[in-house]
Amino acid sequence: MRFFGSADQQAMGQRGANLFALVQDDPRFAWYGRNVTLVDFSLSELDTFESLVRLQGATAGYRVRRELEHQFRAALETRGLRSDVFGFSVSADDTSVEKARRVLRDFRLPDDLDVSFLAPDSADGDVEAFAEIALMADVLPPPDTVLRGQARRGVALVARERGSGRPVGCAASFANFHPDSIMADTCFWGMLATHPDRRGEKIALVLGAKAMIAMHEKTGIGKFSTGIRDDNIPSERLCEKLGVVRSDYLIIIGMDPDAFRDARITK
Ligand SMILES: CC(C)(COP(=O)(O)OP(=O)(O)OC[C@H]1O[C@@H](n2cnc3c(N)ncnc32)[C@H](O)[C@@H]1OP(=O)(O)O)[C@@H](O)C(=O)NCCC(=O)NCCS
Repeated sequence: MRFFGSADQQAMGQRGANLFALVQDDPRFAWYGRNVTLVDFSLSELDTFESLVRLQGATAGYRVRRELEHQFRAALETRGLRSDVFGFSVSADDTSVEKARRVLRDFRLPDDLDVSFLAPDSADGDVEAFAEIALMADVLPPPDTVLRGQARRGVALVARERGSGRPVGCAASFANFHPDSIMADTCFWGMLATHPDRRGEKIALVLGAKAMIAMHEKTGIGKFSTGIRDDNIPSERLCEKLGVVRSDYLIIIGMDPDAFRDARITK
């Protein structure tokens, strides 16, 4: 398995993959390659959450009500952990795929781009191209086996300039929740990144729409979720166009200051 990112991000990814091998049958946990996370983080789960942090270096807990942010973060800090937060954006209803189809009717990628869907037999260069453009935008990609759709059902696509082969955009969607999870009708979607030279050309919107449709066709899942910082307006606006909207919930991150020294897990 090949991991990407900083030394601490890679170590977290490796520990997360090993941990997931042990807990994959437990619906409390989710995984799409970055780390094993807690699906329904409540204050009564603080010990479990801390174990996930200590074992992996960092984790995330979903479905924390917005008004409880300070209470959760203070509790983590009391335990000697660093904390961070994302908004939890989720498909408000079943119309995301319909919206994605409409986007593909209305817009197309610029003519100079070629798109590849990553597969088990894709060239390593395709996987590296995905990782390169994601990391350029500070978005942490999952390991190669997830990107290729082997370790998780999913889709990952990368757009490259014809001729030079320069990667300029990526998007992905992965099944991350257990079938008995309260989030079983939803999957992860996102990892949107566009090269700074090529922003504003609808590259992320079209790739994001393609990822949604391909994921729906592959798995039947029609609801999508992603983490967006409240100040990331471009991402929030884009996700809204595909029906993935800010919810009443947050994703709370916990990091062990000794094992995970980067400021953030991902953008
Ligand atoms: C977010 C990001 C992927 C958008 O890429 P892009 O290819 O430039 O976006 P698109 O051209 O497809 O934009 C589609 C829509 O997104 C929204 N959007 C994109 N950039 C925006 C901006 N700077 N301000 C406000 N809205 C913006 C708009 O609604 C836009 O539609 P419009 O052009 O009709 O207004 C890009 O800014 C990026 O790589 N950011 C850094 C990485 C990141 O934050 N990823 C998301 C992590 S949650």
